Amino acid sequence: MAKRTASFICQACGAVYTRWQGKCEACGQWSTIAEEAPAAPLPGASGPVRGKKGRIFLLEGLVGDPTESPRIPSGIGELDRVTGGGFVPGSVILLGGDPGIGKSTLLMQASAALANKGERVVYISGEEATGQVRLRAERLGLCKSPVELASETNVEDIIATLSKGAPPRLVIIDSIQTMWSDTVDSAPGTVTQVRGSAQSLIRYAKTSGASVILVGHVTKDGQIAGPRVVEHMVDAVASFEGDGAQHFRILRAAKNRFGPTDEIGVFEMTGLGLREVTNPSALFLEGRDTDSAGTAVFAGMEGTRPVLVEFQALVAASSLGTPRRAVVGWDQSRLSMVLAVLEAHGGLKLGGYDVYLNVAGGLKIDEPAADTAAAAALISSLSTTPLPATRVYMGEIGLTGALRPVGQVAARLKEAAKLGFGSAVIPKAGAEAAGPSSLTVATIADAADLVASIIAGKKASRAS
Ligand code: TYD
Ligand code: MG
Repeated sequence: MAKRTASFICQACGAVYTRWQGKCEACGQWSTIAEEAPAAPLPGASGPVRGKKGRIFLLEGLVGDPTESPRIPSGIGELDRVTGGGFVPGSVILLGGDPGIGKSTLLMQASAALANKGERVVYISGEEATGQVRLRAERLGLCKSPVELASETNVEDIIATLSKGAPPRLVIIDSIQTMWSDTVDSAPGTVTQVRGSAQSLIRYAKTSGASVILVGHVTKDGQIAGPRVVEHMVDAVASFEGDGAQHFRILRAAKNRFGPTDEIGVFEMTGLGLREVTNPSALFLEGRDTDSAGTAVFAGMEGTRPVLVEFQALVAASSLGTPRRAVVGWDQSRLSMVLAVLEAHGGLKLGGYDVYLNVAGGLKIDEPAADTAAAAALISSLSTTPLPATRVYMGEIGLTGALRPVGQVAARLKEAAKLGFGSAVIPKAGAEAAGPSSLTVATIADAADLVASIIAGKKASRAS
C-alpha cells in the first residue's frame, strides 16, 4: 500500500495540492491553502483487497412503485415552502448564512414546533453551551418544548448518542465547522474534518431515517466556507440571507433534490425571534416614497408566489471620465445591457451620467422580467418624471429593444390588484395571457415606446 503523505488543501474550495502555494488555482483565492494530515480510511472501509470479486446486485426498471417518502412539515409555513412541503426522512440539508443572521434562531423555532407535535428532535450545538441555547429558547418563549439539547462536537459520540432509543425525526447540527471526527487527523474546521464529519452524519441520516440539518457559516464573498465541499453530498442547500441593518430575512434553496429551488421564505427578525411574513410584497413596499422620480414597482415572481418590489434609480451628471455604474440587488451586466438598449433604441444619452440602481428591501432579483421596471426607474430619474405611484411594470427587454413576454402575467396582476395598485405596464407580446384584470393594463412594444410613454406622462402632467 502506498504511503499516505500530507496534502495541501484549499480551505475555501477543497482543491488538493501536493505542495504549498500562495494562490489556489481552482478558485483564485489567496492564502487559503493549508497543510492537512492524510485522510484515514473511513470507518468500515477496509484497505484494497486483492482478487476480491464485486457483489452482484439487482438492477431495476424505471417503472415500479414510486415510494414517495412522507414529508414532515415543520409547522413553520415559510420554511416548509422552501423545503418543498417539509423535511424528507433520511435527507440532509445544509443551511448557510452569515454569522448572526438568525440560523440558530430559525432552527430552534423549527425544532420546538416539531417537538411540540410530539416528534423526537435533537439539537446539537457545537458553538454554544447548553445554557446559552436555553437562554435563546427562553427568549423565544419556547423553553417548555421537549427538544433534546446537547453541546457536543465529536461526531462519533453524537451518532452513538442519537442511535440510543427511537431514531429522532430531526437532528440539528449547529454548526458543521465545529464538528470533528476521530477518524480524521486534521484540526476541526479544516476541509478534511468538515468533509469527514459530514460524511458520517449523512450516512447516519440515510441509515436511521432522521432528517439532519447542518448549519454552515458563510465567508464574506457568500461562499459556504469549508462546507462548500459538502454541498454536493447533501440533498438540499439553503441559505439564510438578509442585511444586518434590516429586520427581514430571506430563506432560499440553492439546491433541492426533493423540491423546488425558486421558492423563497420571508421572515422578520423581531425581539421575540423570527416571525413569518406571509405577504412579502407589503413588507418590501413599506415606507415607499411615492412622489419622487426614479422609482418603479416591479411585479415579480419568486417561485410560485408573486412578489412586488421597488426599483430605485439615480441618474446624476458625472464628473468622472468613466461614469459610475453601481447596482445593489440586481445584476450588473443586466444594468449595462438595459442602459445600452435605452441609448441605442430609446434615444437617451446616458454616457455623461453616473447610474445607481437599488432594489429596495434587500431582495435580490434575478428575473429578466425586471428589465422594464429597472428601465422605467432609470428613465424616470433621468427625466425627473415621477411615475404613477400605483403602477407596476414587468417585461424582459431584448437587445433589439423589443419587450419580450413574461410568464404568469395573470398572477402578477392579481397580486398588484390585491395590494391596491391601479395600473400595469406589460409587454405587448404575449399580452393576451393577462386575461381580464381589474387593473388598467397598458401594453408597450419596445424600449422606445416605454421612453415615449414616460416622457409623455411628464408633458401631460405639466399641461394640467
Ligand atoms: P442567531 O440565531 O444566533 O444567528 P446565527 O446562528 O445565524 O449566527 O441570531 C443572532 C441575532 O439575532 C442576534 O444579533 C440577535 C438577534 N435576535 C433577535 O433579534 N431576536 C431574537 O429573539 C433572537 C433569539 C435573536
Ligand atoms: Mg448560531
